[in-house]
Amino acid sequence: MKPVLSSSIAVMLVAGSVVLATGASTQSDKNDRSAGRLDTIAQKMAAPIFVTKIPPGYRDWRLISVAREEGNLDDVRAILGNDVAIKAYREGTRPFPDGTIIARLAWSYDPSEENNKAFGRRQSFVAGYPKNGVQFMVKDTTKYASTGGWGFSHFDDGKPAGEAVLNTCFSCHEAVKARDLVFTDYAP
Ligand code: HEC
Repeated sequence: MKPVLSSSIAVMLVAGSVVLATGASTQSDKNDRSAGRLDTIAQKMAAPIFVTKIPPGYRDWRLISVAREEGNLDDVRAILGNDVAIKAYREGTRPFPDGTIIARLAWSYDPSEENNKAFGRRQSFVAGYPKNGVQFMVKDTTKYASTGGWGFSHFDDGKPAGEAVLNTCFSCHEAVKARDLVFTDYAP
């Protein structure tokens, strides 16, 4: 709720200056005009709004693809989509329609001794414990207009990440603006 709060405080501050600035006119005139100007100002200043609730049922969504990250992340991940996402992916609909939700899950990348024994050599890696949080991108072109129509969220052990973390999402995902901010392709 923090981003919403700070943006509404900002809007209230601006509201104050708009009312002061419209000195010489009738009261109702003034109200109409400030309301109109406020709308525009609110749109222009729209601070990013982040998703703070985990979309229910996401663990049962269908698979879009998998990925492996090395370096600091060092995980193996799955990208899942709700029905709207899967339909858009399969039909090649871009931009993704409102209602699309894409989830990114990740786990530690662990060698499996048991599997290695069965194979007779070291070759097997599997998903271990949940790692690097769960992330979502939720499409709502109205609500998330200031971040390309996508609401971003990150949860560690079910707890939503703060604004500092969420402010990094959009700027990096903007690298694939031409693909509606989504990196992952559908694995055929
Ligand atoms: C430094 C760049 C970078 C930042 C910052 C970043 N991402 Fe991503 N994200 C990626 C890349 C690259 C992929 C695709 C590969 C992968 O899954 O690791 C991805 C994948 C995703 C996906 C799967 C859909 C897709 O675009 O492929 C979601 C959902 C996602 N990120 C959400 C987030 C959220 C939420 C945040 C902020 C908390 C965030 N990302 C921050 C680079 C970034």
